[in-house]
Amino acid sequence: QKSQAWSALFSEPMSELVKRYTSSVGFDKRLWRADIDGSLAHAQMLAAQGIISGQDLTGIEQGMAQIASEIERGEFDWKLDLEDVHLNIEARLTALVGDAGKRLHTGRSRNDQVATDVRLWLRGEIDLIADLLAGLQSALVDLAERHVEVILPGFTHLQVAQPVSFGHHMLAYVEMFARDAERLADVRRRVNRLPLGAAALAGTSYPLDRERVAQVLGMEGVCQNSLDAVSDRDFAIEFTAAAALAMVHVSRLSEELIIWMSQNFGFIELADRFTTGSSIMPQKKNPDVPELARGKTGRVVGHLMGLITLMKGQPLAYNKDNQEDKEPLFDTVDTLKDTLRIFIEMVGGITVRPEAMERAALRGHATATDLADYLVKKGLPFRDAHETVAHAVKAASERGLDLAQLPLAELQRFHAAIEQDVFEVLSLRGSLEARKVLGGTAPDQVRAQIARHRGRIEGP
Ligand code: ARG
Repeated sequence: QKSQAWSALFSEPMSELVKRYTSSVGFDKRLWRADIDGSLAHAQMLAAQGIISGQDLTGIEQGMAQIASEIERGEFDWKLDLEDVHLNIEARLTALVGDAGKRLHTGRSRNDQVATDVRLWLRGEIDLIADLLAGLQSALVDLAERHVEVILPGFTHLQVAQPVSFGHHMLAYVEMFARDAERLADVRRRVNRLPLGAAALAGTSYPLDRERVAQVLGMEGVCQNSLDAVSDRDFAIEFTAAAALAMVHVSRLSEELIIWMSQNFGFIELADRFTTGSSIMPQKKNPDVPELARGKTGRVVGHLMGLITLMKGQPLAYNKDNQEDKEPLFDTVDTLKDTLRIFIEMVGGITVRPEAMERAALRGHATATDLADYLVKKGLPFRDAHETVAHAVKAASERGLDLAQLPLAELQRFHAAIEQDVFEVLSLRGSLEARKVLGGTAPDQVRAQIARHRGRIEGP
């Protein structure tokens, strides 16, 4: 039995400790479907090239069908002794169909096999994540659409800056998640290439038709250098980088939700099912879900560091180090998918408190820039207008008022050109309406962006 020693070459069996240390089946069994798909495509090609017989192919296909159903039904006996998913499936195949099973590995190594499996698996996961990213964008666009006219203070340095539409604010996140989706689509093209045929590292002497295998597996093409095909995991690294960025975007949104939910802001409420209570403080409702998402972002960023460090010292070609690509990659996928799923639901359950937002926007002289722009229209150079308004802000602050609350006579002390129409300019709504520039926060702009996003997300 192979599990005791690899071949006649070995004079003693592997120690239990080494067996457990080197085994990956505990986690790589989740690649089983990709492993079977890759094997079937390989076997069909071997038969078409006359390398194995049609009878062998039939045996392999029947055996694999049985194995798939055993795994699906939870009846497959995964053996630690057989190290990984590949050897487990191959051993079972041989037990089921005999010599045909032993011929499957012709012209193939676990090195090109595992690289193929991970790529096939990851491609499927990227497609699921793309759907979730579209779902989250839709949820955010819905939320934006319900609140185009709601005004909150926009911040820079977390200091009140200028009023913005809550819808506009939400669309900022839609842009981020749209770029995440674009990045993933781009990564997918490089994930979707076929290593099989590279064999252990040098290629193979069998007349394999690699292009055919790539086509059967729906891949864009073959990896063109055998050494590179089996050894690099850059595709996993760039996927994890894209995933880490998506998590960073979720984390920024989380941070805002947490701040907005604090009693000192009171801008939003999360649906109760996304919050938790305290075991000691009866009044508490805590935003655990966004906090955890923020925390889990650190974990995914850690996986990116882990993977990129895994690669950096490896000489060509395959090294067992690469077995360590799986857990961080799997956990990245799981974490991102769970997070996106929960955010799609949570965003749908956000209650906005427009009065609290407007009240906050009325503190902090959010329309000071509008007054400066007003004076520019009256002929002042912008720098002078800026200075004039700074004096007015100082006077308002000293009196405990917002700039917009100063009486006209008072404002006119700072510049004679100020007239009654200034109050429209100093209003939150006036400030918003004025920002009609493409990509600005004017409600009409925001509505136009919502329409664009809808067309883009839902497709033609
Ligand atoms: N379990 C291994 C991995 O995940 C499969 C490839 C093993 N190849 C080898 N030559 N030991 O990378």
